[in-house]
Amino acid sequence: MMVASTACGTEGAVRNPPASARQSASSAPNSPLAALLADLSNLQIHEAFDFVSDTLSKVYIEWPELASQEAKTIALKRKVKKLRWSSLNIHDYKDNAIDFNKAYYPKNLSKCAVVASALQLLHSEVVYDVGGGAGPFGTMWKHYHPDSKVIVVDRSIEQESIGKKISSIIGINIDYEHGDASNYFTEEKTRGIRIFSYFLCEQMPEFASIRWDTLIGECGIFVDYGEVLGALRNIPKSFSVNYASASVKVPNSLVSFVGDKQLDVNVAVVQRR
Ligand SMILES: C[S@@+](CC[C@H](N)C(=O)[O-])C[C@H]1O[C@@H](n2cnc3c(N)ncnc32)[C@H](O)[C@@H]1O
Repeated sequence: MMVASTACGTEGAVRNPPASARQSASSAPNSPLAALLADLSNLQIHEAFDFVSDTLSKVYIEWPELASQEAKTIALKRKVKKLRWSSLNIHDYKDNAIDFNKAYYPKNLSKCAVVASALQLLHSEVVYDVGGGAGPFGTMWKHYHPDSKVIVVDRSIEQESIGKKISSIIGINIDYEHGDASNYFTEEKTRGIRIFSYFLCEQMPEFASIRWDTLIGECGIFVDYGEVLGALRNIPKSFSVNYASASVKVPNSLVSFVGDKQLDVNVAVVQRR
């Protein structure tokens, strides 16, 4: 598939959206991005799941501890499900980065695979996976955009070391940098696509103080809970937001990996107007 050679900050950056694409984004419905996002519900999803299946098989063979779903992991999932924005700032990944990834890495990798495969026509030389944790989104982005340099930024050293181990097992070369997103993007404001998976949910208590102009870069791609993405309606009017969502049936062979028969994927793409 052809990859556009410029970044997503302008309409011209996304070329050749698939003819089959349906318009499903709720704002800027005629933009090329809206057409790409509509691809969340087309056949590329099968290709995405094949890649996830191969990737996770390799990881679980080399590192079986990551595959086991222990009681602690299930308890963590329940806790996260019950969270409300006011109490979302709970994660100190120091003690539970492994449990977090046991519970969420396969699921988040699958969701990010769907989004990264649908957005194959977006391109940037540099892509930052902000609050990337062990890097599921950055990993999938690199798979679909092998020419991009992908940098995972996270404040948790434990997440970084898990991500590096996974990357070395699957042979996808992404970089990890340790840092806090809130003061990370003070220079080169508009360089690079910024991707965020389940980062915004942890920022809700500080939502009003987020410096969007430095955070967004050429454009920002957010995968998160639907109600969390809804808060993007309140960001400065100098940005436009395209939303898409899909309920994806997980292939039977992957149900035990992913831990669910169905995945609800919600994505928002934020651009400067
Ligand atoms: C819910 S996890 C999601 C991790 C990963 N993106 C995924 O989809 O699996 C949120 C991550 O954001 C990181 N994080 C939260 N706030 C951050 C900040 N201000 N700067 C850098 N990392 C942050 C946490 O350490 C954690 O790894």
